[in-house]
Amino acid sequence: MTGKRVLLIIGGGIAAYKGLELIRRLRERGIAVRAILTKAGAEFVTPLSVGSLTGDKVYQDLFSLTDEAEMGHIQLSRAADLVVVAPATAHLMARMASGLADDLATTALLATDKPVLIAPAMNVRMWQHGATARNLKQLIADGAHVVGPNDGEMACGEFGPGRMAEPDEIVTAIEALLAPMPQLLAGRKALVTAGPTREPIDPVRYIANRSSGKQGYALAGALARLGADTVLVSGPTELACPARVRTVRVETAAEMNAACLAELPADIAICTAAVADWRVENRANQKLKKNGVGGNGGAPTLKLIANPDILAGLAQSKTRRPALVVGFAAETENVIEHARTKRLAKGCDWIVANDVSPATGIMGGDSNTVHIITAKDIESWPSLPKGEVAEKLAARIAAHFGAPA
Ligand SMILES: Cc1cc2nc3c(=O)[nH]c(=O)nc-3n(C[C@H](O)[C@H](O)[C@H](O)COP(=O)(O)O)c2cc1C
Repeated sequence: MTGKRVLLIIGGGIAAYKGLELIRRLRERGIAVRAILTKAGAEFVTPLSVGSLTGDKVYQDLFSLTDEAEMGHIQLSRAADLVVVAPATAHLMARMASGLADDLATTALLATDKPVLIAPAMNVRMWQHGATARNLKQLIADGAHVVGPNDGEMACGEFGPGRMAEPDEIVTAIEALLAPMPQLLAGRKALVTAGPTREPIDPVRYIANRSSGKQGYALAGALARLGADTVLVSGPTELACPARVRTVRVETAAEMNAACLAELPADIAICTAAVADWRVENRANQKLKKNGVGGNGGAPTLKLIANPDILAGLAQSKTRRPALVVGFAAETENVIEHARTKRLAKGCDWIVANDVSPATGIMGGDSNTVHIITAKDIESWPSLPKGEVAEKLAARIAAHFGAPA
């Protein structure tokens, strides 16, 4: 992404603060950011904060002689590879949809010859209003790309769609627009599992594990960027849904299994989730008391029973086996040997083995060292950021299928 340039227009919404984080994330990727701050935007974030993060002048005024002398508004709108509006307020969307040019932001948007990405952010009622729906339709018809909004709790206390997409999601959408990928997996459906599962002990306690879900989320995003129709079945994580991926959130292994089966048929299944092997058979309906049932002391005895084996179930399905089934093996010793055994036992095509012993920092960390074990060979990759492991693996999967479907 180094050398790419984004013109970021920050509108006047509470989510303007996320615009600051977006600048940081883009610059980390080598993308230069120039910012226009609307009059209302400057009520939420200061030009000083924006300029400190972009490392550039912040443009605010259409009629500034200095700005026009330095960089005219037409040049400003064209010097970038992509124009991003985040947050795109209801007002800004309305002005864009009507072709107004009454300030620097809308004038630049009307004058640009570059693609435009908007990240709407507003109260749920504003988002659901017929006028906003009409404006959105018009903007899409005019060629604008849209990321979000998400469902969730709003700063105003209401709940529903209208929350601006998270900076990471916007970055993914920006990357996809700046470097469009060949759609090698178009026409194929990919099912990816990610994250931990939670197995309840009682209504307030559960057994879980340290999986962050980062590798699975990155993989789902990478497959979607190659054009696969991608569904991510995720256990509880803090991560935002990757762009162009449909995410189904579950909690227990049994729910994850049911969600995966409901998504079949699929061409590709990749099981990165750290699914609990066991669940508590004698799960309590009421919170267990410290002093034991009836206060007679003693720690409770938990009886564990086996959970469904999701990977083996998919790989050994007689009628609906995906053409390519990939498992992940998190091992803490004899990594390759254990992973080889796991591939045969599960009946999957490939196993991606990684050493998750605490010293590696892989569990929850941002990089991964993996070995790809197939029936024919083993390929070991150096330590790479999880995003790069995902890109490489998605490319390998595309090569496995050859021509698009
Ligand atoms: C505290 C506060 C929060 C606001 N948050 C939003 C918002 O999230 N989304 C939105 O569309 N408008 C929001 N508004 C209204 C906009 O600031 C207003 O419509 C403004 O004219 C938008 O100007 P702009 O689109 O040029 O930035 C908010 C207003 C206030 C006072």
